[in-house]
Amino acid sequence: MHSELSSAVAFGTAEHPWQGVRAGAFKGAADTYAIHDEMRREAPVWQAPWGDVYVTRYDLVSNSLVNRKLSHVPPGSETAEPHSAMRDWLIYQEGSAHAALRKALQQPFVSNGMAALRPVIDDAVKEFIGDALSGTVDVVAAFTRAVPERIICRLLGVPARDMPMIRQWSGAIRTMLDTGFDDAFLASANPADEMSDYFVAHVSHLLTAGPMPPLLTGLPSLADALGLVAAGRNIAFLAFAGHETTVHLIGNMLFHLSRQPDQWSSMRANRRLAANAVAETLRLESPVQKICRWPLEPVVLDGQEIEKDRLLVLLVGAANRDPSQFPAPSRFDIARTGKQNLAFGRGAHVCIGRALAEMEGAMVLNAMLDRWKTVEQIDSRWMDNSSMRGLDSLVLSLMG
Ligand code: HEM
Repeated sequence: MHSELSSAVAFGTAEHPWQGVRAGAFKGAADTYAIHDEMRREAPVWQAPWGDVYVTRYDLVSNSLVNRKLSHVPPGSETAEPHSAMRDWLIYQEGSAHAALRKALQQPFVSNGMAALRPVIDDAVKEFIGDALSGTVDVVAAFTRAVPERIICRLLGVPARDMPMIRQWSGAIRTMLDTGFDDAFLASANPADEMSDYFVAHVSHLLTAGPMPPLLTGLPSLADALGLVAAGRNIAFLAFAGHETTVHLIGNMLFHLSRQPDQWSSMRANRRLAANAVAETLRLESPVQKICRWPLEPVVLDGQEIEKDRLLVLLVGAANRDPSQFPAPSRFDIARTGKQNLAFGRGAHVCIGRALAEMEGAMVLNAMLDRWKTVEQIDSRWMDNSSMRGLDSLVLSLMG
Protein backbone atom coordinates (compact mmCIF):
# COMPACT_ATOMS: atom_id res chain seq x y z
CA MET A 1 0.00 0.00 0.00
CA HIS A 2 2.93 2.31 0.58
CA SER A 3 6.10 2.22 -1.39
CA GLU A 4 9.64 3.40 -1.66
CA LEU A 5 10.63 7.00 -2.14
CA SER A 6 12.18 7.55 -5.50
CA SER A 7 14.52 10.08 -3.85
CA ALA A 8 16.44 7.04 -2.61
CA VAL A 9 17.99 7.10 -6.10
CA ALA A 10 20.31 9.78 -4.68
CA PHE A 11 22.15 7.02 -2.80
CA GLY A 12 23.30 5.35 -6.00
CA THR A 13 22.15 2.47 -8.16
CA ALA A 14 25.04 -0.01 -7.98
CA GLU A 15 23.90 -3.52 -8.95
CA HIS A 16 23.39 -5.75 -5.96
CA PRO A 17 22.28 -9.41 -5.86
CA TRP A 18 19.24 -8.28 -3.84
CA GLN A 19 18.44 -5.42 -6.22
CA GLY A 20 15.27 -7.32 -7.16
CA VAL A 21 13.46 -6.12 -4.03
CA ARG A 22 13.85 -2.55 -5.11
CA ALA A 23 10.85 -0.72 -6.56
CA GLY A 24 11.39 -0.09 -10.26
CA ALA A 25 13.97 -2.90 -10.54
CA PHE A 26 11.37 -5.54 -9.77
CA LYS A 27 10.41 -8.06 -12.44
CA GLY A 28 7.39 -10.31 -11.95
CA ALA A 29 9.19 -13.25 -13.55
CA ALA A 30 12.02 -13.14 -10.96
CA ASP A 31 12.06 -15.38 -7.90
CA THR A 32 11.53 -12.66 -5.34
CA TYR A 33 11.07 -15.16 -2.49
CA ALA A 34 14.55 -16.64 -3.03
CA ILE A 35 15.93 -13.13 -2.43
CA HIS A 36 13.73 -12.71 0.66
CA ASP A 37 15.04 -16.02 2.05
CA GLU A 38 18.67 -14.92 1.64
CA MET A 39 17.98 -11.54 3.18
CA ARG A 40 16.17 -13.08 6.18
CA ARG A 41 19.08 -15.49 6.77
CA GLU A 42 21.99 -13.11 6.17
CA ALA A 43 20.71 -9.61 7.00
CA PRO A 44 17.17 -9.50 8.43
CA VAL A 45 17.54 -5.74 8.77
CA TRP A 46 19.36 -4.67 5.60
CA GLN A 47 20.50 -1.15 4.83
CA ALA A 48 20.59 -1.19 1.03
CA PRO A 49 23.24 0.74 -0.91
CA TRP A 50 20.45 2.95 -2.28
CA GLY A 51 19.57 4.05 1.25
CA ASP A 52 16.37 2.23 2.14
CA VAL A 53 16.22 -0.31 4.97
CA TYR A 54 14.51 -3.69 4.40
CA VAL A 55 13.13 -5.88 7.19
CA THR A 56 12.36 -9.56 6.48
CA ARG A 57 12.09 -11.54 9.75
CA TYR A 58 8.57 -12.15 11.10
CA ASP A 59 9.23 -10.95 14.67
CA LEU A 60 10.96 -7.77 13.47
CA VAL A 61 8.22 -6.93 10.97
CA SER A 62 5.48 -7.72 13.48
CA ASN A 63 7.06 -5.56 16.21
CA SER A 64 7.75 -2.71 13.79
CA LEU A 65 4.07 -2.60 12.84
CA VAL A 66 3.20 -1.62 16.42
CA ASN A 67 6.29 0.51 17.15
CA ARG A 68 5.06 4.02 17.95
CA LYS A 69 8.45 5.50 17.04
CA LEU A 70 7.83 4.55 13.42
CA SER A 71 5.62 7.01 11.59
CA HIS A 72 3.12 6.60 8.77
CA VAL A 73 3.69 10.11 7.51
CA PRO A 74 6.31 10.49 4.77
CA PRO A 75 8.87 13.10 5.94
CA GLY A 76 8.47 16.45 4.24
CA SER A 77 4.91 15.77 3.14
CA GLU A 78 3.43 17.47 6.24
CA THR A 79 4.37 20.92 5.04
CA ALA A 80 4.13 20.50 1.25
CA GLU A 81 1.60 22.94 -0.20
CA PRO A 82 -0.50 22.52 -2.16
CA HIS A 83 -0.64 19.00 -0.82
CA SER A 84 -1.69 16.08 -2.95
CA ALA A 85 -4.91 14.12 -2.48
CA MET A 86 -2.97 11.15 -1.17
CA ARG A 87 -1.63 13.18 1.75
CA ASP A 88 -5.20 13.25 3.12
CA TRP A 89 -5.64 9.46 2.95
CA LEU A 90 -6.37 7.71 6.23
CA ILE A 91 -3.29 5.54 5.91
CA TYR A 92 -0.95 8.57 6.01
CA GLN A 93 -2.50 10.07 9.17
CA GLU A 94 -1.28 9.71 12.74
CA GLY A 95 -2.64 10.15 16.28
CA SER A 96 -6.06 11.65 16.99
CA ALA A 97 -6.69 12.74 13.38
CA HIS A 98 -6.14 9.15 12.30
CA ALA A 99 -8.32 7.69 15.07
CA ALA A 100 -11.31 9.96 14.32
CA LEU A 101 -11.20 9.40 10.57
CA ARG A 102 -10.72 5.65 10.98
CA LYS A 103 -13.72 5.43 13.31
CA ALA A 104 -15.93 7.15 10.74
CA LEU A 105 -14.73 5.06 7.77
CA GLN A 106 -14.91 1.69 9.48
CA GLN A 107 -18.42 2.13 10.92
CA PRO A 108 -20.18 0.12 8.15
CA PHE A 109 -17.81 -2.84 8.67
CA VAL A 110 -18.47 -3.30 12.38
CA SER A 111 -21.37 -4.86 14.32
CA ASN A 112 -23.74 -6.59 11.90
CA GLY A 113 -22.71 -4.40 8.96
CA MET A 114 -21.12 -7.31 7.10
CA ALA A 115 -24.49 -9.04 6.67
CA ALA A 116 -25.66 -6.09 4.56
CA LEU A 117 -22.64 -6.44 2.28
CA ARG A 118 -23.12 -10.15 1.51
CA PRO A 119 -25.91 -9.77 -1.13
CA VAL A 120 -23.73 -7.33 -3.08
CA ILE A 121 -20.93 -9.91 -3.22
CA ASP A 122 -23.40 -12.61 -4.17
CA ASP A 123 -24.76 -10.56 -7.13
CA ALA A 124 -21.26 -9.81 -8.46
CA VAL A 125 -20.18 -13.45 -8.19
CA LYS A 126 -23.31 -14.59 -10.07
CA GLU A 127 -22.82 -11.95 -12.75
CA PHE A 128 -19.24 -12.87 -13.62
CA ILE A 129 -18.91 -16.54 -12.68
CA GLY A 130 -21.75 -17.97 -14.72
CA ASP A 131 -22.33 -21.33 -16.36
CA ALA A 132 -21.16 -20.00 -19.73
CA LEU A 133 -17.59 -19.87 -18.46
CA SER A 134 -15.67 -23.10 -19.08
CA GLY A 135 -12.72 -24.59 -20.94
CA THR A 136 -9.60 -22.44 -21.33
CA VAL A 137 -10.13 -19.09 -19.63
CA ASP A 138 -7.88 -16.19 -18.58
CA VAL A 139 -9.54 -15.73 -15.20
CA VAL A 140 -7.88 -12.34 -14.61
CA ALA A 141 -9.59 -10.98 -17.72
CA ALA A 142 -12.81 -12.88 -17.03
CA PHE A 143 -13.51 -12.25 -13.34
CA THR A 144 -10.75 -11.96 -10.71
CA ARG A 145 -10.55 -8.21 -11.39
CA ALA A 146 -14.16 -7.58 -12.36
CA VAL A 147 -15.79 -9.13 -9.27
CA PRO A 148 -14.04 -6.96 -6.61
CA GLU A 149 -14.39 -3.89 -8.88
CA ARG A 150 -18.12 -4.42 -9.24
CA ILE A 151 -18.48 -4.97 -5.49
CA ILE A 152 -16.61 -1.83 -4.40
CA CYS A 153 -18.46 0.28 -6.98
CA ARG A 154 -21.84 -0.99 -5.74
CA LEU A 155 -20.82 -0.44 -2.11
CA LEU A 156 -19.82 3.15 -2.87
CA GLY A 157 -22.70 3.92 -5.24
CA VAL A 158 -20.51 4.30 -8.34
CA PRO A 159 -22.47 3.60 -11.55
CA ALA A 160 -21.34 0.62 -13.65
CA ARG A 161 -20.59 2.92 -16.61
CA ASP A 162 -17.79 4.57 -14.60
CA MET A 163 -16.00 1.31 -13.76
CA PRO A 164 -13.51 1.55 -16.66
CA MET A 165 -12.28 4.90 -15.27
CA ILE A 166 -11.88 3.43 -11.78
CA ARG A 167 -9.87 0.56 -13.31
CA GLN A 168 -7.60 2.96 -15.14
CA TRP A 169 -6.96 5.17 -12.10
CA SER A 170 -6.38 2.17 -9.84
CA GLY A 171 -3.77 0.71 -12.19
CA ALA A 172 -1.99 4.06 -12.41
CA ILE A 173 -2.03 4.52 -8.60
CA ARG A 174 -0.71 0.98 -8.11
CA THR A 175 2.25 1.79 -10.35
CA MET A 176 2.81 5.21 -8.81
CA LEU A 177 2.87 3.81 -5.26
CA ASP A 178 5.55 1.38 -6.37
CA THR A 179 7.83 3.59 -8.40
CA GLY A 180 6.89 7.25 -8.04
CA PHE A 181 6.15 7.82 -4.38
CA ASP A 182 7.59 11.35 -4.37
CA ASP A 183 5.22 12.31 -7.17
CA ALA A 184 2.34 10.83 -5.23
CA PHE A 185 2.88 13.37 -2.46
CA LEU A 186 4.48 16.33 -4.12
CA ALA A 187 3.36 16.56 -7.75
CA SER A 188 0.30 18.67 -8.36
CA ALA A 189 -1.78 16.39 -10.53
CA ASN A 190 -1.35 12.64 -10.33
CA PRO A 191 -3.83 9.77 -10.82
CA ALA A 192 -4.87 9.86 -7.13
CA ASP A 193 -5.81 13.53 -7.51
CA GLU A 194 -7.82 12.77 -10.64
CA MET A 195 -9.64 9.89 -8.96
CA SER A 196 -10.26 12.11 -5.92
CA ASP A 197 -11.80 14.87 -8.05
CA TYR A 198 -14.25 12.28 -9.34
CA PHE A 199 -15.12 11.17 -5.79
CA VAL A 200 -15.47 14.72 -4.45
CA ALA A 201 -18.11 15.32 -7.15
CA HIS A 202 -19.67 11.91 -6.43
CA VAL A 203 -19.88 12.59 -2.69
CA SER A 204 -21.31 16.02 -3.29
CA HIS A 205 -24.03 14.52 -5.50
CA LEU A 206 -24.85 11.82 -2.93
CA LEU A 207 -25.17 14.39 -0.16
CA THR A 208 -27.82 16.29 -2.07
CA ALA A 209 -29.56 13.46 -3.96
CA GLY A 210 -29.03 10.38 -1.71
CA PRO A 211 -29.69 7.57 -0.90
CA MET A 212 -26.44 6.54 0.79
CA PRO A 213 -24.82 3.34 -0.52
CA PRO A 214 -23.81 0.62 2.02
CA LEU A 215 -20.26 1.84 2.78
CA LEU A 216 -21.24 5.52 2.96
CA THR A 217 -23.94 5.61 5.61
CA GLY A 218 -21.70 7.88 7.73
CA LEU A 219 -20.93 10.26 4.85
CA PRO A 220 -22.91 13.29 6.10
CA SER A 221 -21.02 13.39 9.40
CA LEU A 222 -17.70 12.61 7.68
CA ALA A 223 -18.18 15.53 5.29
CA ASP A 224 -19.17 17.81 8.20
CA ALA A 225 -16.05 16.87 10.15
CA LEU A 226 -13.49 16.89 7.31
CA GLY A 227 -15.02 19.09 4.62
CA LEU A 228 -16.10 17.85 1.22
CA VAL A 229 -12.65 17.64 -0.37
CA ALA A 230 -10.91 15.55 2.31
CA ALA A 231 -14.02 13.34 2.62
CA GLY A 232 -14.06 12.73 -1.16
CA ARG A 233 -10.32 11.98 -1.14
CA ASN A 234 -10.80 9.34 1.53
CA ILE A 235 -13.68 7.74 -0.33
CA ALA A 236 -11.34 7.55 -3.34
CA PHE A 237 -8.84 5.78 -1.06
CA LEU A 238 -11.54 3.35 0.06
CA ALA A 239 -12.35 2.65 -3.59
CA PHE A 240 -8.67 1.92 -4.36
CA ALA A 241 -7.74 -0.03 -1.19
CA GLY A 242 -11.11 -1.76 -1.20
CA HIS A 243 -10.60 -3.66 -4.43
CA GLU A 244 -7.03 -3.49 -5.80
CA THR A 245 -5.87 -5.81 -3.00
CA THR A 246 -8.80 -8.25 -3.17
CA VAL A 247 -8.31 -8.66 -6.92
CA HIS A 248 -4.88 -10.12 -6.17
CA LEU A 249 -6.06 -12.24 -3.26
CA ILE A 250 -8.47 -14.02 -5.62
CA GLY A 251 -5.99 -14.35 -8.50
CA ASN A 252 -3.14 -15.53 -6.25
CA MET A 253 -5.42 -18.08 -4.60
CA LEU A 254 -6.39 -19.55 -7.99
CA PHE A 255 -2.72 -19.57 -9.03
CA HIS A 256 -1.91 -21.95 -6.16
CA LEU A 257 -5.08 -24.01 -6.18
CA SER A 258 -4.73 -24.67 -9.91
CA ARG A 259 -1.43 -26.43 -9.07
CA GLN A 260 -2.92 -28.49 -6.24
CA PRO A 261 -5.56 -30.89 -7.64
CA ASP A 262 -5.70 -32.84 -4.35
CA GLN A 263 -6.49 -29.73 -2.33
CA TRP A 264 -9.19 -28.72 -4.86
CA SER A 265 -10.84 -32.14 -4.41
CA SER A 266 -10.57 -31.90 -0.60
CA MET A 267 -12.36 -28.57 -0.65
CA ARG A 268 -15.12 -29.90 -2.90
CA ALA A 269 -15.68 -32.59 -0.29
CA ASN A 270 -15.37 -30.25 2.71
CA ARG A 271 -16.40 -26.66 2.02
CA ARG A 272 -15.23 -25.46 5.42
CA LEU A 273 -11.70 -25.67 4.00
CA ALA A 274 -12.44 -22.78 1.60
CA ALA A 275 -11.77 -20.23 4.36
CA ASN A 276 -8.39 -21.92 5.00
CA ALA A 277 -7.47 -21.52 1.33
CA VAL A 278 -8.11 -17.77 1.62
CA ALA A 279 -5.95 -17.51 4.76
CA GLU A 280 -3.17 -19.62 3.25
CA THR A 281 -3.10 -17.43 0.12
CA LEU A 282 -2.85 -14.28 2.23
CA ARG A 283 0.18 -15.81 3.96
CA LEU A 284 1.98 -17.40 1.04
CA GLU A 285 1.26 -14.85 -1.69
CA SER A 286 0.47 -11.69 0.29
CA PRO A 287 -1.16 -9.11 -2.01
CA VAL A 288 0.45 -6.25 -0.03
CA GLN A 289 4.16 -7.10 -0.04
CA LYS A 290 5.59 -3.90 1.42
CA ILE A 291 4.51 -1.63 4.25
CA CYS A 292 6.58 1.52 4.79
CA ARG A 293 7.40 3.44 7.94
CA TRP A 294 9.72 6.35 8.82
CA PRO A 295 11.49 6.61 12.23
CA LEU A 296 10.49 9.74 14.17
CA GLU A 297 13.85 9.46 16.00
CA PRO A 298 16.82 7.07 15.68
CA VAL A 299 15.68 3.50 16.46
CA VAL A 300 17.56 0.24 17.01
CA LEU A 301 16.37 -2.80 15.07
CA ASP A 302 18.10 -6.15 15.54
CA GLY A 303 21.12 -4.32 16.97
CA GLN A 304 21.38 -1.79 14.13
CA GLU A 305 20.72 1.91 14.49
CA ILE A 306 18.37 3.31 11.86
CA GLU A 307 18.41 7.06 11.56
CA LYS A 308 15.42 9.39 11.72
CA ASP A 309 13.39 9.71 8.51
CA ARG A 310 15.14 6.79 6.79
CA LEU A 311 12.64 4.73 4.77
CA LEU A 312 11.94 1.38 6.43
CA VAL A 313 10.39 -1.21 4.10
CA LEU A 314 8.65 -3.98 6.05
CA LEU A 315 8.59 -6.96 3.69
CA VAL A 316 5.32 -8.58 4.72
CA GLY A 317 5.66 -11.24 2.03
CA ALA A 318 9.02 -12.30 3.52
CA ALA A 319 7.76 -12.27 7.12
CA ASN A 320 4.85 -14.50 6.11
CA ARG A 321 7.32 -17.10 4.80
CA ASP A 322 9.61 -17.04 7.85
CA PRO A 323 10.43 -20.72 8.61
CA SER A 324 10.71 -19.98 12.33
CA GLN A 325 6.95 -19.23 12.32
CA PHE A 326 5.59 -21.33 9.47
CA PRO A 327 6.95 -24.87 8.96
CA ALA A 328 7.63 -25.68 5.27
CA PRO A 329 6.82 -22.04 4.52
CA SER A 330 6.83 -22.21 0.71
CA ARG A 331 4.23 -24.99 0.64
CA PHE A 332 0.61 -24.02 -0.05
CA ASP A 333 -1.30 -26.01 2.55
CA ILE A 334 -4.99 -25.49 3.26
CA ALA A 335 -4.67 -27.68 6.38
CA ARG A 336 -2.13 -25.31 7.95
CA THR A 337 -2.95 -24.06 11.44
CA GLY A 338 -1.19 -21.80 13.91
CA LYS A 339 0.48 -18.42 13.77
CA GLN A 340 -1.43 -15.40 12.45
CA ASN A 341 0.05 -13.99 9.25
CA LEU A 342 0.67 -10.26 8.76
CA ALA A 343 -1.08 -9.79 5.40
CA PHE A 344 -3.53 -7.21 6.79
CA GLY A 345 -0.92 -5.42 8.90
CA ARG A 346 -1.15 -5.04 12.67
CA GLY A 347 -1.75 -2.29 15.21
CA ALA A 348 -3.49 1.06 14.83
CA HIS A 349 -3.61 0.90 11.02
CA VAL A 350 -4.62 -2.75 10.62
CA CYS A 351 -6.85 -3.19 7.56
CA ILE A 352 -10.49 -2.19 8.10
CA GLY A 353 -11.69 -4.24 5.12
CA ARG A 354 -10.37 -7.61 6.22
CA ALA A 355 -13.76 -9.27 6.78
CA LEU A 356 -15.05 -8.00 3.43
CA ALA A 357 -11.96 -9.21 1.55
CA GLU A 358 -12.10 -12.64 3.21
CA MET A 359 -15.80 -12.94 2.46
CA GLU A 360 -15.21 -12.05 -1.20
CA GLY A 361 -12.41 -14.60 -1.46
CA ALA A 362 -14.47 -17.39 0.11
CA MET A 363 -17.61 -16.64 -1.95
CA VAL A 364 -15.71 -16.59 -5.25
CA LEU A 365 -14.00 -19.84 -4.32
CA ASN A 366 -17.27 -21.52 -3.33
CA ALA A 367 -18.88 -20.48 -6.61
CA MET A 368 -15.95 -22.04 -8.46
CA LEU A 369 -16.07 -25.22 -6.40
CA ASP A 370 -19.79 -25.49 -7.26
CA ARG A 371 -19.09 -25.33 -10.99
CA TRP A 372 -15.75 -26.95 -11.74
CA LYS A 373 -14.53 -30.41 -10.77
CA THR A 374 -10.99 -29.60 -11.84
CA VAL A 375 -9.09 -26.36 -12.33
CA GLU A 376 -5.73 -26.73 -14.04
CA GLN A 377 -3.08 -24.10 -14.72
CA ILE A 378 -2.01 -23.50 -18.31
CA ASP A 379 -0.14 -20.20 -18.15
CA SER A 380 0.50 -17.25 -15.82
CA ARG A 381 2.26 -13.86 -15.77
CA TRP A 382 3.06 -11.93 -12.57
CA MET A 383 2.91 -8.12 -12.49
CA ASP A 384 6.12 -6.06 -12.44
CA ASN A 385 5.26 -4.49 -9.10
CA SER A 386 7.31 -4.91 -5.93
CA SER A 387 4.68 -3.55 -3.53
CA MET A 388 1.60 -5.40 -4.71
CA ARG A 389 1.84 -9.09 -5.61
CA GLY A 390 -0.62 -10.13 -8.28
CA LEU A 391 -1.12 -11.51 -11.75
CA ASP A 392 -1.47 -9.78 -15.11
CA SER A 393 -2.78 -13.01 -16.55
CA LEU A 394 -3.76 -16.48 -15.33
CA VAL A 395 -4.97 -18.96 -17.93
CA LEU A 396 -6.77 -21.98 -16.48
CA SER A 397 -8.55 -25.01 -17.84
CA LEU A 398 -11.93 -25.11 -16.07
CA MET A 399 -13.61 -28.49 -16.35
CA GLY A 400 -17.14 -29.12 -15.04
C1 HEM B 1 -6.90 -9.03 0.46
C2 HEM B 1 -7.31 -7.81 0.60
C3 HEM B 1 -6.62 -6.78 1.44
C4 HEM B 1 -5.33 -6.73 1.91
C5 HEM B 1 -4.23 -7.77 1.73
C6 HEM B 1 -5.19 -5.49 2.65
C7 HEM B 1 -4.04 -5.11 3.31
C8 HEM B 1 -3.94 -3.98 4.10
C9 HEM B 1 -2.80 -3.64 4.91
C10 HEM B 1 -1.49 -4.45 4.98
C11 HEM B 1 -3.07 -2.49 5.56
C12 HEM B 1 -2.20 -1.78 6.58
C13 HEM B 1 -1.20 -0.87 5.96
C14 HEM B 1 -0.29 -0.18 6.96
O1 HEM B 1 -0.20 -0.56 8.13
O2 HEM B 1 0.35 0.76 6.53
C15 HEM B 1 -4.40 -2.08 5.14
C16 HEM B 1 -5.02 -0.91 5.55
C17 HEM B 1 -6.24 -0.50 5.05
N1 HEM B 1 -7.11 -1.22 4.28
FE1 HEM B 1 -6.80 -3.06 3.53
N2 HEM B 1 -6.38 -4.81 2.59
C18 HEM B 1 -7.28 -5.56 1.87
C19 HEM B 1 -8.60 -5.25 1.61
C20 HEM B 1 -9.23 -4.09 1.96
C21 HEM B 1 -10.62 -3.76 1.71
C22 HEM B 1 -11.62 -4.70 1.03
C23 HEM B 1 -10.82 -2.50 2.19
C24 HEM B 1 -12.06 -1.65 2.20
C25 HEM B 1 -13.17 -1.85 1.56
C26 HEM B 1 -9.57 -2.04 2.77
C27 HEM B 1 -9.37 -0.81 3.34
C28 HEM B 1 -8.23 -0.46 4.05
C29 HEM B 1 -8.08 0.82 4.71
C30 HEM B 1 -9.09 1.97 4.70
C31 HEM B 1 -6.83 0.80 5.34
C32 HEM B 1 -6.18 1.90 6.15
C33 HEM B 1 -6.39 1.69 7.63
C34 HEM B 1 -5.69 2.73 8.47
O3 HEM B 1 -4.74 3.37 8.01
O4 HEM B 1 -6.12 2.90 9.62
N3 HEM B 1 -8.63 -3.03 2.61
N4 HEM B 1 -4.91 -3.02 4.28
